[in-house]
This record gives sequence, C-alpha cells and structure tokens, in this order.
Amino acid sequence: MDDEGASTSSASDSETQHHESAAAEHGLESVKRKLCRLVASSLSVTVPGLDVEPMLEVSKPGFGDYQCNNALSLFSSLRGTGTNFQNPRSIGQTILNNLPSSDIVESTSVAGPGYVNIVISSDWIAKMIQDMLIYGIKTWAPTMPVNRVIVDFSSPNIAKEMHVGHIRSTIIGDALARMLEFANVEVLRRNHVGDWGTQFGMLIEFLFEQFPNWKEVGNQAIEDLQSFYKASKIKFDDESSGFKAKAKQAVVRLQQGEDRYRAAWEKICQISHNEFDSVYKRLGVELEEKGESFYNPYIPPVLEELTNKGLITKSEGAQVISIAGQKSPLIVVKRDGGFNYASTDLAALWYRLNVERAEWIVYVTDVGQKQHFHKFFSAASMAGWLPDQNEKEYPKTTHVGFGLVLGLDGKRFRTRCSEVVRLVDLLDEAKSRCKEELIGRLTENGKIADWTVDELDTTSEAIGLGAVKYADLKNNRLTDYTFSFDKMLSDKGNTAVYLQYAHARICSIIRKANKDIEELKTKASITFVHADERALGLHVIRFQEVVEQACADLLPHYLCDYLYSLSEAFSKFYASCQVVGSPEEASRLLLCHATAVVMRQCFNLLGITPVYKL
Ligand code: ARG
Repeated sequence: MDDEGASTSSASDSETQHHESAAAEHGLESVKRKLCRLVASSLSVTVPGLDVEPMLEVSKPGFGDYQCNNALSLFSSLRGTGTNFQNPRSIGQTILNNLPSSDIVESTSVAGPGYVNIVISSDWIAKMIQDMLIYGIKTWAPTMPVNRVIVDFSSPNIAKEMHVGHIRSTIIGDALARMLEFANVEVLRRNHVGDWGTQFGMLIEFLFEQFPNWKEVGNQAIEDLQSFYKASKIKFDDESSGFKAKAKQAVVRLQQGEDRYRAAWEKICQISHNEFDSVYKRLGVELEEKGESFYNPYIPPVLEELTNKGLITKSEGAQVISIAGQKSPLIVVKRDGGFNYASTDLAALWYRLNVERAEWIVYVTDVGQKQHFHKFFSAASMAGWLPDQNEKEYPKTTHVGFGLVLGLDGKRFRTRCSEVVRLVDLLDEAKSRCKEELIGRLTENGKIADWTVDELDTTSEAIGLGAVKYADLKNNRLTDYTFSFDKMLSDKGNTAVYLQYAHARICSIIRKANKDIEELKTKASITFVHADERALGLHVIRFQEVVEQACADLLPHYLCDYLYSLSEAFSKFYASCQVVGSPEEASRLLLCHATAVVMRQCFNLLGITPVYKL
C-alpha cells in the first residue's frame, strides 16, 4: 500500500508494520560496524599481538566516505620499540593493504599523514536501500547487549505542579524508550511518581476540612489539584490555625494504615493520576505508574540487608551510608525514623533488579539530582548489587541528566505571572500559533479550500506538539535550553516545522508522480547517476549507525542532527536532480520514498507525528 496519500498518520505506515521475521533473518549491521570489522581484521595483521580498537569516522567532504585514523596513534605508541614502520603513513598504507576484500568497499587511498580513506560501493548502498524498502525499516534496527531495560521517567509528584523539569523528563524519557524499543529491547516504562511523603498529611487534612463529604464528591470538585495544594499550603504555613499539628498527625495515621486516611490518600492519588494521564495521552506517551508508595513494603528488608552487610551507620540520630569521596553520606532513615527518597530508590532498585530482572535501569531527571544518583548507585555497588561501575558490565544503572529550561530572560522558565508553567498551556499555545500560521499560508496561496476543518486541526496539533518536543530533544540534553515559541515554530533552520515541511514535500513529489511505489520496490532498481543522488543514498543508510550510537549513549539529539542533515542532503539532491518525468524517475522515486521512510522513523523515535501534506 502506498501511504503517501494520507494527510497525517502514525499507524498507516506500511514500513512500521514491520516484517519481524525478515528483520531477524536479515539482521543487518550498519555500514560503520561492517567497516570496523574490516579494519579490525586488517589491524590484527598489521600490528599482530596488539589489541587495537578500530578508529573510524565519517570523512570530511572530498576524502572518501569513511576515514580510518588508527595509523597516527599507532605510530606514536610503536615509535622506539624497534618497529619497521618509518612513519604513520607507512602504517596507513599497510592497514590499507591488509583490508580484506569486501563488496562494501569501492576504493581506498591513504591521505595526509596516514589516514585511510574508504569509499563505499555505490551498488552496495543502492542494494541496502532497496532491501530496506522491501523488508522494512526494522531490518535497520540496532542490536543492543541487553534484553530488558527500565526507563524511569516523567515521575512528577502528586498534587504538586508538573513543572518544566518533568516535561523534559517526559519528552526525553519517551524518546529513549522509543529508541530502545526500536532496538528490540523490552522496555518497562516506569512513572516513579511521588505519591508518598509528608505533603499528604496536609492534603488529607485539608480534604477533610474543605469537603466533609469527600467520599461522595466527584473528582471534578477538586479537579485542579494544584490550586488545592496551594490553598492547603497557605493554611499549613499559617501558624495560628493549628492546622500544621493536625497535618503532622495525619501523616502518622496514614503511615499506620488507618482506613479513613488511606482512602483519602487514594482519592487524591486517583485525581492526580487522571490529570497526568490526560497530558500523557495528548503527548502520545505511554507510562506505567509504580509510585514511590509501591516500594514501601520493600524498604525494611532492604535496609536490613544493607545493615547486615555493614553499610549502614548511625549519624546524628539518622541512619546513613558513607560514600567514598562524598562529604555528606546518603541518608536512608531520617532522624524521626521516617524513610525518604533515597530509601525508596534503594528498595525500588532492589525490586527492579530482583523481581523485574532488568539489566539496565535508566533514570531521567534534571542534572540537579546527579549527586543523589551517584550516591545511591555507589551504595548499590557496595552492597554487591551492581558490578563495579564498569561501562560494559550489566546489570547497570545510568542517570540520564538534563539541563534547565530557561526563559528568554535567561532565567528559569516561568510564565508572565511568575507561576510555574503548565504543560497543557504550552501545548495549546504551540498548536494555536501553528494553526494561525497554517491558515494564513493556505489562504495566501489559495489552497485553503482543499483542507477540512479536521485536517487543519490534526495537522496543527502534530506540528505544534512536535515543535515543542523537538526543541527540547535537539540540544545535547545536558545543556540548558531556552524556550522560545518564535524559534521553535520557525520554518527555517533545525526545527521540527522545517523538517515537517521537508517531509511533506517529499510526499507531495511522490503523489505527483502517481506511481505504485509498492510495485516499484521490486520491479525497479536504484542507481545513482548524480553525485548528490549518491550522497543522499549514503546518508539514508547511515541512519542505522546513528540510531545505534544514539541508543548506546542515550542521546536523542544525534537523531535530530541526522534528521536535519538528511533533509539538507535531500534538498541538494532535489535541486540538482529532476525526479518526476526524468529518465531516472523510478530509481529516484524509490530514493525519495526511502528518505521519507527514514525521516518518519526518526520522527517516530522522537515521539513526533509526521504530516504528509502541508
Ligand atoms: N519525583 C522525583 C522528582 O520530581 C523524580 C523521581 C525520579 N526517579 C527516581 N527513581 N528517583 O524530583
């Protein structure tokens, strides 16, 4: 089925109805991986006995496609050891001579001080693309060294506002989960919501006061939990009301499991859950809630284990674990005897390792929590739960940190009235701006009559939400980023809007040709005539190694950079090569289609709904 006709679609892509068995059968390696193996085999002959990792990167324009850089560093380590090599260049030449012959490689040469330049066979690139079109993009999925991963993300706190940090965690965490799922890893998407803690005493007591018939009132009555939280906090802080003492009592009674308190807590959690859920639905994010409270029963036995292992000591009335190199220890039982964030995280990790049997546990929070994670991971290693912090050993834990969201004034992002930013409002504004822009444009070029109201709406939603997500994902997550509607909604530069246009344009070229792409896949073949055409083809197949690296480093911005350069490569191709009506039409349509398929896969991994018509 040719899906180019749909206006917006997330499910109709024939390429995403992956041919699982074909993928397994083909199990294709990326070009880079293949080349690395050739280089490794050459190195083992060139410098026998030395275990050298291949150093391979994409070449600068004009220097082949990939470049092997081993010669230079090898020469400096061999110098003075009686080696026969006179200079790095002679090592480069030997690496080249020892490369096993392969149908991937078209030609090789040594350049400069000893770089080995490799040119990939054009026929092979074409074949890779054609195979992908026939067997599905899933055949380009990376292989990961793990089977089951937990991604702990979003994780807002109940009744408190879902602040910008949680928004970033939701967007980044979802992208990571999608990437790993694409790599055939089983991902447990965990929402570690803060549903336990001292604030509940206050909330419960306030609920009793404000709604004496709280059991009967519908959830709508207290729908806006944020205001509810704020009002109760004002009362809590007012020393004269005697409310604080009552709230503290309520915490104790909740923790002791008193029915009325438990029921009130459940009600508050449920309301909050519904609120979060509507946001997740709109964002297309799936999450399974296992809040902090879930791990309560596991805390005492876990602490007992750590005590028996001699890790826990008393300090100023609290129970702590000292961590080498850290000034302050990890507190696991507070002075008042209560458990905290760290004890919950330890119990949750125990559960994730022993019950859920996850091999890799990934935590997505702002970088501000770096220390907490460092300490608690160290404690887990000391307990023997994790192998020593060795990158390659599993089970493994990773803190995926991210920077702040800044406003245009360079300070923490807030809205005008200096309240926290509500995610829903952001999404609404992005969408309405997109709609206005779209309607303006369509009216101007006389196409507005071709669009239904519904189409306008779904397209604006897809573009607006996609823009918000992309603006967040395109930066290295560790850096702070500045939130600007004007920038993210611009149709120029590295923005989702620009990319959506680029994708829709490809779809429109294919529609215009009016050919059956499914038939072309098997009846026609791809050949590269023009250099820009080949360059696009090579870029298309590089998707595999990019997504592999993005998964390994948990960095979605690699995909964004790739997506942007792919659309640039497409523009260049389209400027120099006629598609519709040219003698090469069939081959070029297939290349256009492959570009669109890869772009959609990238959008999909980033949680963005592609649009097919703009
Ligand atoms: N609820 C926490 C917060 O808002 C984030 C939880 C992250 N996950 C974890 N396992 N600690 O800061």
